[in-house]
Amino acid sequence: MSIETPVRQESPSALPTKPMLEVRDLVVRYGRGRKAAAAPAAVDGVSFTIRPGETVGLVGESGSGKSTIGKAILGLQNVSGGSITYRGEDITHAGAGRRRALGGELRAVFQDPNSSLNPRTTVGASLMDPLRLRGVSAAEARARAEDMLERVGLPREAVDRYPSQFSGGQRQRISVARALICDPQLVVCDEAVSALDLSTQAQVLNLLADLRDERGLSYLFIAHDIAVVQFLAQRVVVLYRGQVMESGPAAAVTENPKHPFTRALVAASPVPRPAEQAQRREARESLGVRTAAATTASPGGCPFRQRCPLATDLCRDERPALRLVGESDVACHYS
Ligand SMILES: Nc1ncnc2c1ncn2[C@@H]1O[C@H](COP(=O)(O)OP(=O)(O)OP(=O)(O)O)[C@@H](O)[C@H]1O
Ligand code: SF4
Ligand SMILES: [Mg+2]
Repeated sequence: MSIETPVRQESPSALPTKPMLEVRDLVVRYGRGRKAAAAPAAVDGVSFTIRPGETVGLVGESGSGKSTIGKAILGLQNVSGGSITYRGEDITHAGAGRRRALGGELRAVFQDPNSSLNPRTTVGASLMDPLRLRGVSAAEARARAEDMLERVGLPREAVDRYPSQFSGGQRQRISVARALICDPQLVVCDEAVSALDLSTQAQVLNLLADLRDERGLSYLFIAHDIAVVQFLAQRVVVLYRGQVMESGPAAAVTENPKHPFTRALVAASPVPRPAEQAQRREARESLGVRTAAATTASPGGCPFRQRCPLATDLCRDERPALRLVGESDVACHYS
């Protein structure tokens, strides 16, 4: 999609330098025991940091490991290797008690509000639950729930209604309110606007940007569409088959992509104007990138080599390390 409103990134240099979250060489394999050891890693040595107040965008095709990274950060997925450090504390293998305590600080907004909002409880109860769990009185929790609903653009009376009585966009606002009611530090937004129509997407993105700026929030913003990510993120990480292909300042990655996969991703991002769309199609075809369906996974070398028009024997034999090219880190032998 394309958002017609101005890009809402802030200058990265205006942000504190100490990371709030540090993901280092993260590896996740699904399954247990021998099965897991034999399975290809869903996330394969991913590193990035998020600073206080910063939004990092995580983009990639379906199955590239975006949600798996989000779940590992939230403690919803076991980690096979590497580390996750939150405000200086190693939380990679934090136990249930510590994770519960962190539950107010690390929150999530998912694509499908129905999975996070119980259809049988009122909106007020859904919002008040996390506060009540943290010892807030019923009266105080209700007042905070009403304030939060008002802040996300819904009437205070919404507390007494059920999720099914709202539209998809309104339900997503309720999910945002639920994620933010405990004053979190970091919110993982996993395809949080992907199910919404274009104008509702833009409204919810603006709301997320306003709340971030008001509260100094950090976001890990996950989406498959790089144009959506570009709207919010100061930095972008591009994933392919569980590995980072390119990462750097949002403007550099989206306007001057260095990796052949990032170029293909940018060219594939739809734009609303037909003439520009036709130009994009031509540009996409001229890149010569093969479709995902034409390839199978195989270990070693560059994970993108079977689709890459520039691939050589070196790409088959050696996995390219990330190296600085211009302002971005790029994993390509020939970038
Ligand atoms: N519970 C699971 N058990 C086994 N494999 C899984 C599980 N969840 C995800 N995977 C696999 O891990 C890989 C990464 O999945 P993930 O859901 O993280 O991708 P994604 O980038 O979020 O994709 P999408 O854009 O479709 O949401 C995929 O190959 C997927 O099949
Ligand atoms: S390393 Fe080789 S196969 Fe991989 S993206 Fe670069 S040129 Fe293409
Ligand atoms: Mg996903």
